[in-house]
Amino acid sequence: MSDTLPSNIGACVFDAYGTLLDFNAAVNQRRDRIGPRADDLSDLWRRKQLEYTWLRSLMGRHADFWQVTTDALDFSMAAVGVTDASLRDDLLGLYRTLAPYPEVEATLQRLKGAGLRTAILSNGEPAMLTDAVDAAGLSPMLDEVFSVESVGIFKPHPSAYQMVVDAFGIDPDQVLFQSANAWDIAGAASFGFTTVWINRGGAQEECLPDMPAHTLPSLDGLPALVGLE
Ligand code: LAC
Repeated sequence: MSDTLPSNIGACVFDAYGTLLDFNAAVNQRRDRIGPRADDLSDLWRRKQLEYTWLRSLMGRHADFWQVTTDALDFSMAAVGVTDASLRDDLLGLYRTLAPYPEVEATLQRLKGAGLRTAILSNGEPAMLTDAVDAAGLSPMLDEVFSVESVGIFKPHPSAYQMVVDAFGIDPDQVLFQSANAWDIAGAASFGFTTVWINRGGAQEECLPDMPAHTLPSLDGLPALVGLE
């Protein structure tokens, strides 16, 4: 673990789902209709969504993140015994406008106001990212929204992280990368980004080759970490 940041941060880059956007928000809004297995459904939906990205990447059978998200919901609803087709469509609609976590707007404003370059790097496909960023009112605080659809393979493949370096013309360690997903942090650190794991749920550290350079419980501590307060 290092406590130092590169002296010249070239960009603050954020994962989207789980880091800026609360992926439990869709199920949370339909708890009454889903019933007692709402949390199981939300957990399984997310787990399957990620699993399908990794499996499709390994199989060389890429499909965009909206397709994967839909497939994962279909699996999960069947697995937990929720069969209402209108609920399926409703949850998918809600997933396009997930609420941001409470500290997101102020944090991005602080970073952007200080002149730092900001961006999203997400597995999300471009239209779903646009819908979510617009609904959350985050576009004025972001210089770029990078979708892995430009490279056709999901994180943590190195090509996904390479996009940021190529677009901004900076070295990998000048990218300060925030993700709540430990697997994404491992991929980004392995690529050479300077990483900040936003460990919202107090999760166990992964046993993967590259550890996060920094860990914070939320994005609240990020301005201080980059020396802004
Ligand atoms: C993202 C998801 C996978 O890339 O967290 O935004």
